Amino acid sequence: MKISIIGLGYVGLPLAVDFAKKGHQVAGIDISPNRIDRLKACDNYIDDVSDDDLVSVVKSGLFIASTTFEACKDSGAVIICVPTPVSEHKDPDLTAIRSASEGIAPYVTAGQIVILKSTTFPTTTENVVQPILERISGMKAGSDFHLAYSPERVDPGNTKWTTANTPIVVGGLTEECSKKASELLAEITPNVKIVSSPRVAELEKLLENIFRSVNIALVNEMAMLCDRMGGVNLWEVVDAAATKPFGFMPFYPGPGLGGHCIPIDPYYLSWLARKYDFETSFITLSAKTNEQMPFYVVEAIQRVLANRGSETVGKPRVLILGAAFKKNVDDLRHSPAFKIIEVLEQTTSTHVDFCDPHATEFKKEWLPDNPVMKSIEGTPEQIASYDVVVMVTDHDAFDYQMVADNARYIVDTRNAFSGIRLPENNIKVLGAGSFLSHEQKN
Ligand SMILES: NC(=O)c1ccc[n+]([C@@H]2O[C@H](COP(=O)([O-])OP(=O)(O)OC[C@H]3O[C@@H](n4cnc5c(N)ncnc54)[C@H](O)[C@@H]3O)[C@@H](O)[C@H]2O)c1
Repeated sequence: MKISIIGLGYVGLPLAVDFAKKGHQVAGIDISPNRIDRLKACDNYIDDVSDDDLVSVVKSGLFIASTTFEACKDSGAVIICVPTPVSEHKDPDLTAIRSASEGIAPYVTAGQIVILKSTTFPTTTENVVQPILERISGMKAGSDFHLAYSPERVDPGNTKWTTANTPIVVGGLTEECSKKASELLAEITPNVKIVSSPRVAELEKLLENIFRSVNIALVNEMAMLCDRMGGVNLWEVVDAAATKPFGFMPFYPGPGLGGHCIPIDPYYLSWLARKYDFETSFITLSAKTNEQMPFYVVEAIQRVLANRGSETVGKPRVLILGAAFKKNVDDLRHSPAFKIIEVLEQTTSTHVDFCDPHATEFKKEWLPDNPVMKSIEGTPEQIASYDVVVMVTDHDAFDYQMVADNARYIVDTRNAFSGIRLPENNIKVLGAGSFLSHEQKN
């Protein structure tokens, strides 16, 4: 069967390559000419896709990348994996879903399966995608062609839970739509749970991410309490609670939410809820706590500088270790490191650098002209030249002992230095009862 994948990012490209590896003819469509040129040149930009697999499916002709929707002509199935961001005011932005639906609609044929995978609020498949496809194609979803929603669960960088062994959920417009969509997706992910409608599957995905956001906010709040109290390490508390084999799931504090999902998806539901005169209080409360975290980290850095003073002439110097939003990946989207750097530079007279072996540069989008910031190498001499080193993303590639041996002062937001030999008093760990100095506590 010819399969078309619309949007070749973290979700779409691995799916396209997987289907091509199964022997399907795959058309990959993306509006970014740069991405299409790279794919045509077998230049991989997604860590979860193996370079060898990409080369093999491109060279065999099974995977053809294109910027034009005409490429999806004669497809048996079309899968939409485009971004679903929020606007500046955190309202859902369905521009990409709408334009992808308009792009594929002229090529919808009888019996075709159309699956939306982008994360979105309940009713999007039925109230946004379906009318566009029906209006332009002149065909009826559920009778002429099949329409379903199936949320994506890929966790980039996770080698234990992959698309091959993580169950997926499918909700079709009709039973037949669900059957056709799940038969297709089961070729990649054999464990499929069918639910009664697209809107159940849409809300299920939001529940997964809101669940994480709320639980992360809970431990973040406890981390700040532990810092205030002193003497209790929240990481030890969570690990102790996690020995209970039922009714508890460990979540850990951190410098703030990052990535394309957890900081954004909850707003899709709170926006929808307002239409029903309903306030989603858990979402609001957890957003408030989580969004405060980068500011809290800046406050901790300032306290260290205030108590210890700067040993540098001129501006205090701070080094951020890890800019990607999670460990061992290069994904910088909505990283809390950005907010920490922005607030440090704009509200304090601090010089900030960063070191990240995976995400080696980014644009400072909060500044006019978006200047590029590049990672430093992170040599022992460099580490020693900063007043404070801030552990933001605990990549395995960092030499933690080397950092501990050379840094003047460390603020650790990940408990990454536990078990590392380090000089007394030079580390403050979020949630470890140590953000306040002994003097302040008294
Ligand atoms: N990244 C994840 O871990 C993850 C996990 C689960 C769900 N999701 C959801 O999956 C969806 C896609 O996320 P992603 O991480 O792959 O995004 P991404 O930004 O990595 O990739 C999206 C791609 O779509 C392209 N695109 C944008 N508008 C388009 C259009 N109109 N037509 C064709 N291509 C278009 C972009 O150029 C980009 O290459 C989002 O809704 C996201 O919330 C992502």
